[in-house]
Amino acid sequence: MGGQASFAAVKGFRDVLPNESRLWRKLEGTAAEVFARYDFHPIVLPMLERAELFARTLGEGTDVVEKEMYTFEDRDGAMLTLRPEATASAVRAYLDSGLGAQAQVARFWYAGPMFRRERPQRGRYRQFHQIGVEAFGQAEPIVDGEILVMLMHLLASVGVRDVCLHVGSLGDAACRPAYRERLAVFARERLARLCGDCHRRLTNNPLRLLDCKVPGCREALADAPVMLDHLCGPCGEHFTAVCRLLDGEGVAYTLAPRLVRGLDYYNRTAFEVTAAGLGAQDAVAGGGRYDGLVAALGGPDVPAFGFAIGLERLALAAGGELAAPAPSMAVLPLLAEAAAPALAVATRMRAGGLTVLLEPPGRSLKALLRSANRRQARAALLLGGDELAAGRGTVRDLVRGIDHRLALPLDAASDELVRWVREHEEGGGPG
Ligand code: HAM
Repeated sequence: MGGQASFAAVKGFRDVLPNESRLWRKLEGTAAEVFARYDFHPIVLPMLERAELFARTLGEGTDVVEKEMYTFEDRDGAMLTLRPEATASAVRAYLDSGLGAQAQVARFWYAGPMFRRERPQRGRYRQFHQIGVEAFGQAEPIVDGEILVMLMHLLASVGVRDVCLHVGSLGDAACRPAYRERLAVFARERLARLCGDCHRRLTNNPLRLLDCKVPGCREALADAPVMLDHLCGPCGEHFTAVCRLLDGEGVAYTLAPRLVRGLDYYNRTAFEVTAAGLGAQDAVAGGGRYDGLVAALGGPDVPAFGFAIGLERLALAAGGELAAPAPSMAVLPLLAEAAAPALAVATRMRAGGLTVLLEPPGRSLKALLRSANRRQARAALLLGGDELAAGRGTVRDLVRGIDHRLALPLDAASDELVRWVREHEEGGGPG
Protein backbone atom coordinates (compact mmCIF):
# COMPACT_ATOMS: atom_id res chain seq x y z
CA MET A 1 0.00 0.00 0.00
CA GLY A 2 2.97 2.34 0.64
CA GLY A 3 3.29 5.36 -1.60
CA GLN A 4 -0.33 5.30 -2.73
CA ALA A 5 -1.90 8.69 -2.63
CA SER A 6 -5.58 9.11 -2.90
CA PHE A 7 -6.66 12.16 -4.82
CA ALA A 8 -10.05 13.70 -4.67
CA ALA A 9 -11.24 16.54 -6.87
CA VAL A 10 -10.86 20.01 -5.36
CA LYS A 11 -13.89 21.07 -3.32
CA GLY A 12 -16.57 22.55 -5.56
CA PHE A 13 -14.95 21.11 -8.70
CA ARG A 14 -16.43 17.97 -10.16
CA ASP A 15 -16.21 15.42 -12.94
CA VAL A 16 -19.08 15.28 -15.36
CA LEU A 17 -19.38 11.59 -16.15
CA PRO A 18 -20.61 10.24 -19.50
CA ASN A 19 -24.34 9.96 -18.79
CA GLU A 20 -24.51 13.56 -17.62
CA SER A 21 -21.98 14.75 -20.16
CA ARG A 22 -24.00 13.18 -23.00
CA LEU A 23 -27.02 15.19 -21.88
CA TRP A 24 -24.90 18.37 -21.77
CA ARG A 25 -23.77 17.82 -25.38
CA LYS A 26 -27.38 17.40 -26.44
CA LEU A 27 -28.50 20.52 -24.56
CA GLU A 28 -25.64 22.54 -26.06
CA GLY A 29 -26.52 21.24 -29.52
CA THR A 30 -30.16 22.27 -29.15
CA ALA A 31 -29.12 25.66 -27.79
CA ALA A 32 -26.75 26.21 -30.72
CA GLU A 33 -29.54 25.43 -33.20
CA VAL A 34 -32.05 27.69 -31.49
CA PHE A 35 -29.52 30.54 -31.14
CA ALA A 36 -28.63 30.30 -34.85
CA ARG A 37 -32.31 30.70 -35.77
CA TYR A 38 -32.34 33.91 -33.75
CA ASP A 39 -29.23 35.23 -35.50
CA PHE A 40 -26.79 34.60 -32.64
CA HIS A 41 -23.28 33.54 -33.58
CA PRO A 42 -20.79 31.43 -31.65
CA ILE A 43 -17.81 33.02 -29.95
CA VAL A 44 -15.10 31.42 -27.81
CA LEU A 45 -13.86 33.67 -25.04
CA PRO A 46 -10.74 33.14 -22.91
CA MET A 47 -11.14 31.74 -19.42
CA LEU A 48 -8.54 34.11 -18.01
CA GLU A 49 -8.82 37.90 -17.99
CA ARG A 50 -7.20 40.76 -16.13
CA ALA A 51 -8.65 40.97 -12.63
CA GLU A 52 -9.46 44.61 -13.22
CA LEU A 53 -11.94 43.77 -16.00
CA PHE A 54 -14.24 42.06 -13.52
CA ALA A 55 -13.67 44.53 -10.70
CA ARG A 56 -14.70 47.35 -13.02
CA THR A 57 -17.74 45.68 -14.56
CA LEU A 58 -19.40 43.41 -11.99
CA GLY A 59 -19.39 45.95 -9.16
CA GLU A 60 -16.93 46.41 -6.31
CA GLY A 61 -19.56 45.70 -3.68
CA THR A 62 -20.82 42.40 -5.15
CA ASP A 63 -20.15 39.04 -3.51
CA VAL A 64 -18.52 37.84 -6.72
CA VAL A 65 -15.89 40.59 -6.70
CA GLU A 66 -15.54 40.83 -2.93
CA LYS A 67 -15.02 37.20 -2.09
CA GLU A 68 -15.58 34.73 -4.91
CA MET A 69 -12.98 35.41 -7.58
CA TYR A 70 -10.01 33.14 -8.23
CA THR A 71 -7.34 35.76 -8.73
CA PHE A 72 -3.60 35.20 -8.85
CA GLU A 73 -0.46 37.05 -9.76
CA ASP A 74 1.11 35.94 -13.04
CA ARG A 75 4.91 35.64 -13.34
CA ASP A 76 5.09 39.09 -14.87
CA GLY A 77 3.20 40.63 -11.98
CA ALA A 78 -0.14 40.96 -13.82
CA MET A 79 -3.18 40.14 -11.70
CA LEU A 80 -5.32 37.59 -13.54
CA THR A 81 -8.73 36.13 -12.73
CA LEU A 82 -10.45 32.92 -13.80
CA ARG A 83 -13.65 34.35 -15.27
CA PRO A 84 -16.60 34.27 -12.86
CA GLU A 85 -18.93 35.04 -15.79
CA ALA A 86 -18.58 35.90 -19.45
CA THR A 87 -20.48 39.14 -20.05
CA ALA A 88 -17.46 41.26 -19.13
CA SER A 89 -15.29 39.20 -21.52
CA ALA A 90 -17.88 39.54 -24.28
CA VAL A 91 -17.83 43.32 -23.90
CA ARG A 92 -14.03 43.31 -23.97
CA ALA A 93 -14.07 41.12 -27.09
CA TYR A 94 -16.66 43.38 -28.73
CA LEU A 95 -14.35 46.34 -28.16
CA ASP A 96 -11.07 44.52 -28.94
CA SER A 97 -12.41 43.20 -32.25
CA GLY A 98 -13.18 46.70 -33.46
CA LEU A 99 -16.93 46.03 -33.69
CA GLY A 100 -17.51 48.35 -30.78
CA ALA A 101 -15.80 51.36 -32.35
CA GLN A 102 -18.62 51.72 -34.90
CA ALA A 103 -21.26 50.69 -32.34
CA GLN A 104 -22.17 47.80 -34.63
CA VAL A 105 -24.89 45.30 -33.88
CA ALA A 106 -23.30 42.00 -32.81
CA ARG A 107 -25.04 38.94 -31.40
CA PHE A 108 -22.84 36.31 -29.77
CA TRP A 109 -23.42 33.07 -27.93
CA TYR A 110 -20.87 31.14 -25.86
CA ALA A 111 -20.60 28.09 -23.64
CA GLY A 112 -17.97 27.17 -21.12
CA PRO A 113 -16.77 26.99 -17.54
CA MET A 114 -17.01 29.85 -15.04
CA PHE A 115 -15.38 30.00 -11.61
CA ARG A 116 -16.77 31.40 -8.38
CA ARG A 117 -15.60 30.49 -4.90
CA GLU A 118 -19.09 30.02 -3.48
CA ARG A 119 -20.18 27.58 -0.80
CA PRO A 120 -20.77 24.36 -2.74
CA GLN A 121 -24.13 22.61 -2.53
CA ARG A 122 -26.49 20.83 -4.91
CA GLY A 123 -26.61 22.89 -8.09
CA ARG A 124 -23.88 25.26 -6.89
CA TYR A 125 -20.24 24.61 -7.71
CA ARG A 126 -17.00 26.53 -7.82
CA GLN A 127 -16.47 25.52 -11.42
CA PHE A 128 -19.78 25.59 -13.22
CA HIS A 129 -20.78 25.97 -16.83
CA GLN A 130 -22.90 28.47 -18.64
CA ILE A 131 -24.47 28.81 -22.05
CA GLY A 132 -25.05 32.49 -22.69
CA VAL A 133 -25.93 35.09 -25.28
CA GLU A 134 -25.01 38.78 -25.55
CA ALA A 135 -26.61 41.19 -28.03
CA PHE A 136 -24.89 44.54 -28.62
CA GLY A 137 -26.17 47.65 -30.32
CA GLN A 138 -29.95 47.45 -29.92
CA ALA A 139 -31.80 49.42 -27.27
CA GLU A 140 -35.38 48.70 -28.33
CA PRO A 141 -37.74 46.70 -26.08
CA ILE A 142 -38.35 44.27 -28.95
CA VAL A 143 -34.82 42.95 -28.38
CA ASP A 144 -35.57 42.18 -24.71
CA GLY A 145 -38.82 40.53 -25.79
CA GLU A 146 -37.25 38.53 -28.60
CA ILE A 147 -34.45 37.18 -26.41
CA LEU A 148 -36.79 36.27 -23.56
CA VAL A 149 -39.05 34.45 -26.02
CA MET A 150 -35.98 32.59 -27.32
CA LEU A 151 -34.90 31.58 -23.82
CA MET A 152 -38.34 30.33 -22.83
CA HIS A 153 -38.70 28.37 -26.09
CA LEU A 154 -35.29 26.82 -25.58
CA LEU A 155 -36.17 25.73 -22.03
CA ALA A 156 -39.44 24.24 -23.23
CA SER A 157 -37.82 22.45 -26.14
CA VAL A 158 -35.31 20.65 -23.91
CA GLY A 159 -38.12 19.51 -21.62
CA VAL A 160 -37.68 21.83 -18.62
CA ARG A 161 -41.08 22.07 -16.99
CA ASP A 162 -42.52 24.27 -14.27
CA VAL A 163 -40.37 27.23 -15.20
CA CYS A 164 -41.10 30.68 -13.88
CA LEU A 165 -39.80 33.84 -15.52
CA HIS A 166 -39.39 36.63 -12.97
CA VAL A 167 -39.05 40.00 -14.66
CA GLY A 168 -38.33 43.39 -13.17
CA SER A 169 -36.74 46.66 -14.09
CA LEU A 170 -33.77 48.23 -12.36
CA GLY A 171 -34.31 51.66 -13.90
CA ASP A 172 -31.41 53.70 -15.19
CA ALA A 173 -29.11 56.57 -14.27
CA ALA A 174 -32.09 58.94 -14.44
CA CYS A 175 -34.31 57.19 -11.89
CA ARG A 176 -32.23 54.73 -9.89
CA PRO A 177 -30.22 57.20 -7.76
CA ALA A 178 -33.38 58.84 -6.40
CA TYR A 179 -34.96 55.44 -5.73
CA ARG A 180 -31.79 54.21 -4.04
CA GLU A 181 -31.89 57.20 -1.69
CA ARG A 182 -35.57 56.57 -0.93
CA LEU A 183 -34.78 52.95 -0.07
CA ALA A 184 -31.82 54.01 2.09
CA VAL A 185 -33.99 56.46 4.03
CA PHE A 186 -36.58 53.71 4.61
CA ALA A 187 -33.85 51.32 5.81
CA ARG A 188 -32.18 53.89 8.06
CA GLU A 189 -35.47 54.36 9.90
CA ARG A 190 -35.33 50.63 10.72
CA LEU A 191 -31.60 50.39 11.31
CA ALA A 192 -31.87 48.64 14.68
CA ARG A 193 -33.75 45.71 13.10
CA LEU A 194 -31.20 45.12 10.35
CA CYS A 195 -28.28 42.68 10.42
CA GLY A 196 -24.61 43.68 10.26
CA ASP A 197 -24.40 42.87 6.56
CA CYS A 198 -27.35 45.12 5.86
CA HIS A 199 -25.68 47.97 7.75
CA ARG A 200 -22.79 47.55 5.33
CA ARG A 201 -25.12 47.29 2.32
CA LEU A 202 -26.75 50.54 3.37
CA THR A 203 -23.50 52.41 2.75
CA ASN A 204 -22.07 50.34 -0.13
CA ASN A 205 -25.04 49.24 -2.20
CA PRO A 206 -28.51 49.85 -0.74
CA LEU A 207 -30.29 47.89 -3.54
CA ARG A 208 -28.77 44.74 -2.06
CA LEU A 209 -30.82 45.30 1.11
CA LEU A 210 -33.70 43.70 -0.79
CA ASP A 211 -31.62 40.58 -1.33
CA CYS A 212 -30.94 39.83 2.38
CA LYS A 213 -32.05 36.36 3.46
CA VAL A 214 -32.14 37.08 7.23
CA PRO A 215 -35.80 36.80 8.36
CA GLY A 216 -35.61 39.87 10.63
CA CYS A 217 -34.32 42.02 7.74
CA ARG A 218 -36.93 40.65 5.35
CA GLU A 219 -39.63 41.55 7.81
CA ALA A 220 -38.27 45.02 8.47
CA LEU A 221 -38.03 45.71 4.74
CA ALA A 222 -41.26 44.00 3.69
CA ASP A 223 -42.91 47.33 2.83
CA ALA A 224 -39.80 48.96 1.42
CA PRO A 225 -40.29 51.04 -1.73
CA VAL A 226 -39.58 49.10 -4.93
CA MET A 227 -37.89 50.26 -8.12
CA LEU A 228 -40.87 49.32 -10.30
CA ASP A 229 -42.96 52.04 -8.59
CA HIS A 230 -40.27 54.66 -9.14
CA LEU A 231 -39.21 54.22 -12.76
CA CYS A 232 -38.76 57.38 -14.82
CA GLY A 233 -40.97 57.87 -17.89
CA PRO A 234 -38.67 56.23 -20.49
CA CYS A 235 -37.81 53.26 -18.21
CA GLY A 236 -41.49 52.77 -17.40
CA GLU A 237 -42.39 52.80 -21.09
CA HIS A 238 -39.61 50.37 -21.92
CA PHE A 239 -40.76 47.97 -19.22
CA THR A 240 -44.41 48.17 -20.26
CA ALA A 241 -43.43 47.51 -23.87
CA VAL A 242 -41.42 44.42 -22.91
CA CYS A 243 -44.32 43.05 -20.85
CA ARG A 244 -46.73 43.66 -23.75
CA LEU A 245 -44.47 41.78 -26.13
CA LEU A 246 -44.31 38.84 -23.72
CA ASP A 247 -48.09 38.91 -23.34
CA GLY A 248 -48.48 38.97 -27.11
CA GLU A 249 -46.28 35.89 -27.46
CA GLY A 250 -48.09 34.08 -24.67
CA VAL A 251 -44.96 33.90 -22.52
CA ALA A 252 -46.00 33.64 -18.88
CA TYR A 253 -44.04 35.71 -16.37
CA THR A 254 -44.23 37.04 -12.85
CA LEU A 255 -43.46 40.62 -11.98
CA ALA A 256 -40.46 40.70 -9.68
CA PRO A 257 -40.44 44.14 -8.06
CA ARG A 258 -37.71 43.14 -5.58
CA LEU A 259 -35.43 41.39 -8.05
CA VAL A 260 -31.78 42.28 -7.44
CA ARG A 261 -29.25 40.61 -9.66
CA GLY A 262 -25.96 39.41 -8.17
CA LEU A 263 -23.99 41.59 -10.60
CA ASP A 264 -24.15 45.38 -10.77
CA TYR A 265 -24.02 46.19 -14.48
CA TYR A 266 -27.73 45.90 -15.22
CA ASN A 267 -30.18 48.64 -16.04
CA ARG A 268 -33.83 48.47 -17.07
CA THR A 269 -34.99 44.89 -17.77
CA ALA A 270 -33.55 42.28 -15.40
CA PHE A 271 -34.82 38.75 -14.98
CA GLU A 272 -34.30 35.30 -13.57
CA VAL A 273 -35.82 31.99 -14.57
CA THR A 274 -36.46 29.40 -11.88
CA ALA A 275 -37.37 25.77 -12.43
CA ALA A 276 -39.00 23.22 -10.15
CA GLY A 277 -37.05 20.33 -8.64
CA LEU A 278 -33.73 22.13 -8.29
CA GLY A 279 -33.85 22.69 -4.52
CA ALA A 280 -32.44 25.86 -2.99
CA GLN A 281 -30.44 26.79 -6.11
CA ASP A 282 -33.40 27.03 -8.44
CA ALA A 283 -32.28 29.84 -10.77
CA VAL A 284 -31.63 28.13 -14.06
CA ALA A 285 -30.92 31.34 -15.98
CA GLY A 286 -30.56 35.05 -15.42
CA GLY A 287 -29.77 38.19 -17.31
CA GLY A 288 -31.02 41.52 -18.54
CA ARG A 289 -30.06 44.78 -20.13
CA TYR A 290 -26.68 46.42 -19.51
CA ASP A 291 -26.72 49.57 -21.60
CA GLY A 292 -23.88 51.32 -19.78
CA LEU A 293 -21.26 48.59 -19.72
CA VAL A 294 -19.63 49.10 -23.12
CA ALA A 295 -19.11 52.78 -22.33
CA ALA A 296 -17.84 51.93 -18.85
CA LEU A 297 -15.06 49.92 -20.50
CA GLY A 298 -14.04 52.86 -22.66
CA GLY A 299 -16.24 52.17 -25.71
CA PRO A 300 -19.01 54.23 -27.25
CA ASP A 301 -22.50 54.36 -25.79
CA VAL A 302 -23.73 50.94 -26.99
CA PRO A 303 -26.80 49.28 -25.46
CA ALA A 304 -26.72 45.54 -24.74
CA PHE A 305 -28.87 42.68 -23.50
CA GLY A 306 -28.02 39.09 -22.59
CA PHE A 307 -28.49 36.11 -20.35
CA ALA A 308 -26.71 32.99 -19.18
CA ILE A 309 -28.12 29.56 -18.40
CA GLY A 310 -26.41 27.38 -15.77
CA LEU A 311 -25.72 24.10 -17.54
CA GLU A 312 -25.57 21.98 -14.38
CA ARG A 313 -29.01 23.24 -13.35
CA LEU A 314 -30.40 23.00 -16.88
CA ALA A 315 -29.31 19.36 -17.03
CA LEU A 316 -30.87 18.62 -13.63
CA ALA A 317 -34.13 20.24 -14.72
CA ALA A 318 -34.05 18.38 -18.04
CA GLY A 319 -33.82 14.96 -16.42
CA GLY A 320 -30.23 14.70 -15.24
CA GLU A 321 -28.82 12.02 -17.48
CA LEU A 322 -28.86 10.47 -20.91
CA ALA A 323 -27.94 6.79 -21.11
CA ALA A 324 -25.60 5.55 -23.84
CA PRO A 325 -27.43 4.22 -26.88
CA ALA A 326 -27.09 0.44 -27.15
CA PRO A 327 -24.54 -0.62 -29.76
CA SER A 328 -26.06 -2.03 -32.95
CA MET A 329 -23.52 -4.78 -33.22
CA ALA A 330 -20.94 -6.46 -31.02
CA VAL A 331 -18.01 -7.95 -32.90
CA LEU A 332 -16.79 -11.03 -31.02
CA PRO A 333 -13.48 -12.58 -32.11
CA LEU A 334 -13.19 -16.03 -30.51
CA LEU A 335 -9.55 -16.63 -31.46
CA ALA A 336 -6.44 -14.50 -31.56
CA GLU A 337 -6.30 -14.96 -35.37
CA ALA A 338 -9.73 -13.32 -35.62
CA ALA A 339 -8.48 -10.02 -34.19
CA ALA A 340 -7.44 -8.43 -37.51
CA PRO A 341 -10.59 -9.40 -39.47
CA ALA A 342 -12.68 -8.33 -36.46
CA LEU A 343 -11.09 -4.87 -36.40
CA ALA A 344 -11.43 -4.58 -40.18
CA VAL A 345 -15.13 -5.44 -40.27
CA ALA A 346 -15.86 -3.28 -37.19
CA THR A 347 -14.11 -0.32 -38.86
CA ARG A 348 -16.14 -0.77 -42.05
CA MET A 349 -19.43 -0.99 -40.13
CA ARG A 350 -18.53 2.15 -38.17
CA ALA A 351 -17.76 3.93 -41.43
CA GLY A 352 -21.25 2.83 -42.50
CA GLY A 353 -22.69 4.64 -39.48
CA LEU A 354 -23.20 1.81 -36.98
CA THR A 355 -22.27 1.92 -33.31
CA VAL A 356 -20.07 -1.11 -32.84
CA LEU A 357 -18.72 -2.74 -29.71
CA LEU A 358 -15.41 -4.52 -30.44
CA GLU A 359 -14.34 -7.11 -27.86
CA PRO A 360 -10.75 -8.31 -27.56
CA PRO A 361 -10.25 -12.02 -28.40
CA GLY A 362 -9.25 -14.70 -25.95
CA ARG A 363 -12.41 -15.30 -23.97
CA SER A 364 -15.02 -18.02 -24.29
CA LEU A 365 -18.08 -17.52 -26.49
CA LYS A 366 -20.19 -17.45 -23.35
CA ALA A 367 -18.13 -14.67 -21.77
CA LEU A 368 -18.13 -12.64 -24.98
CA LEU A 369 -21.90 -12.99 -25.39
CA ARG A 370 -22.36 -11.96 -21.80
CA SER A 371 -20.50 -8.68 -22.53
CA ALA A 372 -22.58 -8.08 -25.65
CA ASN A 373 -25.82 -8.73 -23.77
CA ARG A 374 -24.80 -6.54 -20.85
CA ARG A 375 -24.36 -3.66 -23.28
CA GLN A 376 -27.70 -4.58 -24.90
CA ALA A 377 -26.22 -4.96 -28.37
CA ARG A 378 -28.88 -5.77 -31.00
CA ALA A 379 -26.73 -8.46 -32.53
CA ALA A 380 -23.29 -10.07 -32.38
CA LEU A 381 -20.94 -10.95 -35.20
CA LEU A 382 -19.23 -14.21 -34.24
CA LEU A 383 -15.77 -14.84 -35.63
CA GLY A 384 -14.63 -18.35 -34.64
CA GLY A 385 -12.59 -21.07 -36.32
CA ASP A 386 -15.42 -22.11 -38.68
CA GLU A 387 -16.10 -18.57 -39.72
CA LEU A 388 -12.43 -17.83 -40.37
CA ALA A 389 -12.03 -21.03 -42.40
CA ALA A 390 -15.09 -20.21 -44.51
CA GLY A 391 -14.25 -16.49 -44.65
CA ARG A 392 -17.81 -15.72 -43.57
CA GLY A 393 -19.11 -14.47 -40.27
CA THR A 394 -22.21 -15.50 -38.34
CA VAL A 395 -24.61 -12.84 -37.11
CA ARG A 396 -26.43 -13.80 -33.96
CA ASP A 397 -29.66 -11.92 -33.44
CA LEU A 398 -29.42 -11.32 -29.67
CA VAL A 399 -33.08 -10.41 -29.39
CA ARG A 400 -34.47 -13.50 -31.12
CA GLY A 401 -31.52 -15.85 -30.55
CA ILE A 402 -31.33 -16.77 -34.25
CA ASP A 403 -28.06 -17.28 -36.15
CA HIS A 404 -27.62 -16.04 -39.69
CA ARG A 405 -24.58 -16.93 -41.81
CA LEU A 406 -23.46 -13.99 -43.97
CA ALA A 407 -23.86 -14.48 -47.70
CA LEU A 408 -20.72 -12.52 -48.58
CA PRO A 409 -17.11 -12.96 -47.48
CA LEU A 410 -16.21 -10.90 -44.42
CA ASP A 411 -14.20 -8.27 -46.27
CA ALA A 412 -17.19 -7.53 -48.52
CA ALA A 413 -19.96 -8.00 -45.99
CA SER A 414 -20.13 -4.61 -44.29
CA ASP A 415 -22.99 -3.30 -46.48
CA GLU A 416 -24.92 -6.51 -45.84
CA LEU A 417 -24.34 -6.09 -42.10
CA VAL A 418 -25.38 -2.45 -42.07
CA ARG A 419 -28.53 -3.35 -44.02
CA TRP A 420 -29.26 -6.25 -41.67
CA VAL A 421 -29.00 -3.95 -38.64
CA ARG A 422 -31.12 -1.20 -40.19
CA GLU A 423 -33.90 -3.66 -41.12
CA HIS A 424 -33.92 -5.26 -37.69
CA GLU A 425 -33.68 -1.97 -35.78
CA GLU A 426 -36.41 -0.34 -37.83
CA GLY A 427 -38.54 -3.44 -37.40
CA GLY A 428 -38.20 -2.83 -33.64
CA GLY A 429 -36.99 -6.29 -32.68
CA PRO A 430 -38.47 -9.70 -33.42
CA GLY A 431 -40.44 -10.14 -36.60
P1 HAM B 1 -25.73 34.88 -13.11
O1 HAM B 1 -27.14 35.06 -12.66
O2 HAM B 1 -24.67 35.21 -12.14
O3 HAM B 1 -25.59 35.78 -14.40
O4 HAM B 1 -25.53 33.42 -13.61
C1 HAM B 1 -26.38 32.85 -14.59
C2 HAM B 1 -26.73 31.42 -14.22
O5 HAM B 1 -25.53 30.68 -14.00
C3 HAM B 1 -27.50 31.27 -12.93
O6 HAM B 1 -28.87 31.48 -13.14
C4 HAM B 1 -27.20 29.82 -12.57
O7 HAM B 1 -28.04 28.94 -13.31
C5 HAM B 1 -25.78 29.65 -13.05
N1 HAM B 1 -24.84 29.77 -11.91
C6 HAM B 1 -24.35 30.88 -11.35
N2 HAM B 1 -23.50 30.58 -10.34
C7 HAM B 1 -23.44 29.23 -10.27
C8 HAM B 1 -22.74 28.28 -9.44
N3 HAM B 1 -21.89 28.68 -8.50
N4 HAM B 1 -22.94 26.96 -9.66
C9 HAM B 1 -23.79 26.53 -10.63
N5 HAM B 1 -24.47 27.38 -11.43
C10 HAM B 1 -24.30 28.71 -11.27
C11 HAM B 1 -24.44 35.91 -15.12
O8 HAM B 1 -23.47 35.22 -14.98
C12 HAM B 1 -24.54 36.96 -16.21
N6 HAM B 1 -23.23 37.02 -16.90
C13 HAM B 1 -25.66 36.63 -17.16
C14 HAM B 1 -25.80 37.66 -18.24
C15 HAM B 1 -25.42 37.55 -19.51
N7 HAM B 1 -26.31 38.86 -18.08
C16 HAM B 1 -26.24 39.50 -19.22
N8 HAM B 1 -25.69 38.73 -20.10
